[in-house]
Amino acid sequence: MVRDTIRFWRNGQAVEVSGFHPRTTLLDYLRLQERRVGTKEGCGEGDCGACTVALGRVRGGRVRYEPVNACILLLGQIDGAELVTVEDLTANGDLHPVQSAMVAHHGSQCGFCTPGIVMSLFTLYHEGERPLSRESVNDALAGNLCRCTGYRPIVDATLQTCSQQADDVFSANNEKTAHGLMSLADGRDVFIGNETRFFAAPASEDSLAALYARHPDATLVAGCTDVGLWITKAMMEIEKVIWLGRVARLDLIEDSSDKLAIGATVTHAEIHPSLARIDPDLGEIMRRFGSVQVRASGTVGGSIANGSPIGDLAPALIALGAILELRQGDTTRTLPLEDFFIAYRRQDRKPGEFVRRLTVPKLQADEAFRAYKISKRFDEDISSALGAFKFTLDGRRIADVRVAFGGMAGTPKRAAETERALIDLSLDEPSSWGEAMAAIARDYQPLDDHRASSAYRSTIARNLVFKALSETASGETRATRIVGQRDALQAAE
Ligand SMILES: Cc1cc2nc3c(=O)[nH]c(=O)nc-3n(C[C@H](O)[C@H](O)[C@H](O)COP(=O)(O)OP(=O)(O)OC[C@H]3O[C@@H](n4cnc5c(N)ncnc54)[C@H](O)[C@@H]3O)c2cc1C
Ligand code: FES
Ligand code: FES
Repeated sequence: MVRDTIRFWRNGQAVEVSGFHPRTTLLDYLRLQERRVGTKEGCGEGDCGACTVALGRVRGGRVRYEPVNACILLLGQIDGAELVTVEDLTANGDLHPVQSAMVAHHGSQCGFCTPGIVMSLFTLYHEGERPLSRESVNDALAGNLCRCTGYRPIVDATLQTCSQQADDVFSANNEKTAHGLMSLADGRDVFIGNETRFFAAPASEDSLAALYARHPDATLVAGCTDVGLWITKAMMEIEKVIWLGRVARLDLIEDSSDKLAIGATVTHAEIHPSLARIDPDLGEIMRRFGSVQVRASGTVGGSIANGSPIGDLAPALIALGAILELRQGDTTRTLPLEDFFIAYRRQDRKPGEFVRRLTVPKLQADEAFRAYKISKRFDEDISSALGAFKFTLDGRRIADVRVAFGGMAGTPKRAAETERALIDLSLDEPSSWGEAMAAIARDYQPLDDHRASSAYRSTIARNLVFKALSETASGETRATRIVGQRDALQAAE
């Protein structure tokens, strides 16, 4: 049985919507249909957070709230979720605690960014760690730009309110809302439209495989953090959308002693802790991946399938030796992740084939891993280059190595010449490392673009080879301008 509506929870009741264009964003729905204009449009590309709203979904038996950018989220993607916007926070005319704190601390001047900030704080109020550190407040606000107030009063307002146990109408109604959301989960395929224009949300992998085989020209949407920009910035005429967010079991994480299997629709927020457990550098890369909003929507499968040469996950996972699993119709196949990327924006993916899963081997006792993201800005910035290294050690000798870079070529790519030059080197003889550092220039001839010049990229790649070697040799993370997580985590152990 197919459903031809989406259903979501709003202000304590179920709402059904149908007949919308598949490209309709949640922001347009809110501002143009509901006429709720508290949610603002700033950049329209997921960077400023002015459009932040909260989505509630049942996890572990209770409703958990996450902030998302409504400008690059399709309306259809809120199926099965509770939608909370800034207008919903006041109860009986009283401001929500995070709103009162923003007023008390003078956290707003022009006010344009304020609704989005308030919504980010709302999710932190419900989900933040206790006690709340200034650092995690800064992380939570990385996706909310405010150009006039300055962050100190906003951070102070957050520390005051979000350090307490949540006590608002949403926490009081959590159980009731969870029941409501569970009643929406009917496991049926959603198909709204006709054979030439539709929004579809299959509920099973078999339905997805059959639908995509019938419509290989459809656009698959997972988190929409890339596709959203095709709509809002490139004005692409996308007529057929297959959203993967309802496909059962595509969001599974299977964590065993020697490997991590990651379903294609697992979000960056969900995979962050598992990757951080493999190595702290992976945790740091995920912390700096976009913003909380981008990580709440963006998926592992989407970041691999888009084939971006500057994506952060692909080089890190290639260095770890990840295996990609694809499915087309009833046929599945696997390949080493590096073989998926053929040329600039060209991947080894057949019509109607989709990314199903990634399997990532965990580090063994004789292996060491290092990964570094280099970007102009610390938070919410795309990499100029990202280098990842996995060394297999025989005592102090490098017995084997995998090196991969993003941002250095038209695809995420292994550094074959550098790998060859690294094998058999001694960690105790830095004077012998020069040839491996020089080999990077034979592996990559990077482009000049607005993010970095070719010369700059080549220099940092060469220096990252040295950094990875010297850190592996000493077992330490060298303090740079930005102190990594490794020291803090190891100190805490
Ligand atoms: C503000 C902002 C900041 C960002 N910061 C970073 C960053 O720091 N690092 C970084 O690497 N990226 C960053 N990105 C890029 C983006 O978030 C990632 O590429 C993201 O992981 C894409 O995942 P998604 O689920 O949103 O993909 P979508 O937008 O849904 O899809 C992306 C592409 O993959 C295809 N696709 C999706 N899932 C599948 C599947 N299972 N099988 C086959 N094809 C599929 C889609 O058809 C589309 O072509 C940022 C984006 C924004 C907007
Ligand atoms: S309007 Fe800037 S993130 Fe949505
Ligand atoms: S209050 Fe004006 S930009 Fe934030």
